Amino acid sequence: MNNINSSVAKPFLKWAGGKTQLLEQFVEYFPLELKNGSLKNYYEPFLGGGAVFFFIAQNYPIKKAYLSDINEDLVLAFSVVQQNVFELIDELTLLKDEYIRRDDPEREKYFYKIREFYNSERIKTNFNKYSTDWIPHAAKLIFLNKTCFNGLFRLNRKGEFNVPFGRYKNPGILDQENLTSASRVLQIAEIFLTDFENIKNKINDDFFIYFDPPYRPISLTSSFTSYSKYDFTEDDQRRLAQFYGELGVNGNKLMLSNSDSKNENPSDHFFEKLYNKLKYRWN
Ligand SMILES: C[S@@+](CC[C@H](N)C(=O)[O-])C[C@H]1O[C@@H](n2cnc3c(N)ncnc32)[C@H](O)[C@@H]1O
Repeated sequence: MNNINSSVAKPFLKWAGGKTQLLEQFVEYFPLELKNGSLKNYYEPFLGGGAVFFFIAQNYPIKKAYLSDINEDLVLAFSVVQQNVFELIDELTLLKDEYIRRDDPEREKYFYKIREFYNSERIKTNFNKYSTDWIPHAAKLIFLNKTCFNGLFRLNRKGEFNVPFGRYKNPGILDQENLTSASRVLQIAEIFLTDFENIKNKINDDFFIYFDPPYRPISLTSSFTSYSKYDFTEDDQRRLAQFYGELGVNGNKLMLSNSDSKNENPSDHFFEKLYNKLKYRWN
């Protein structure tokens, strides 16, 4: 790194379900061993924007982080921030400058042009092997994330990003300081694309895992929270509860958050039934 930067790193993408607002509440649930430095390995298998990782990595003495998600574009962006942040900043500067010098209707046209480029690049991208071709793709993802409607990420059936233009007065397209800080903090991480269950092959001693799965839809009629082309179904929730139960033996330190379906329907005991065999701290 040729640019020493020590400001606090935070998520560089807006991401549905981000936990930034809940961090203060989370602190009391974190294990003591994380705070006193005896847990050295941190896992976050539903990475999203990474709010919890950035917080933990900058407040507790972990040595290594294993960060994964099933969303290819997200994992690509994290990998580029980690490995080529200065080249990424150069690409993003070009996109930002082109956007800023245009007036409103022209900005919208520019957004759709970049979205089209993004999609034509996307189908040619090998998401399983890091390459410098990932850099311009990550820059476009960050640009689209900051300028699209609500920072959503959604793909159509053809695998094309299809979120419309967001009409922001001042979208923060490039936060150079945060990107370099995020890159610095990510140096302790191994970042990979995988379903949550596959992290079991990576688990070392002295670990803490935080699980933040996509929310279960509140009712059958509500629209499904879709983060990627892979939906997180009730069967996935069951698979996760089973996995959580298997890992939560011998005093292993795990934490999981979810939306409480009982807020909407008091007789919905879906999560209590799934987790009732565990000795957990239920809040
Ligand atoms: C609620 S978000 C995580 C938010 C994150 N904790 C934060 O604070 O920004 C859930 C994430 O789970 C990912 N995901 C969905 N299904 C998955 C699966 N089967 N395995 C791993 N990740 C999955 C989604 O792509 C999404 O990024």
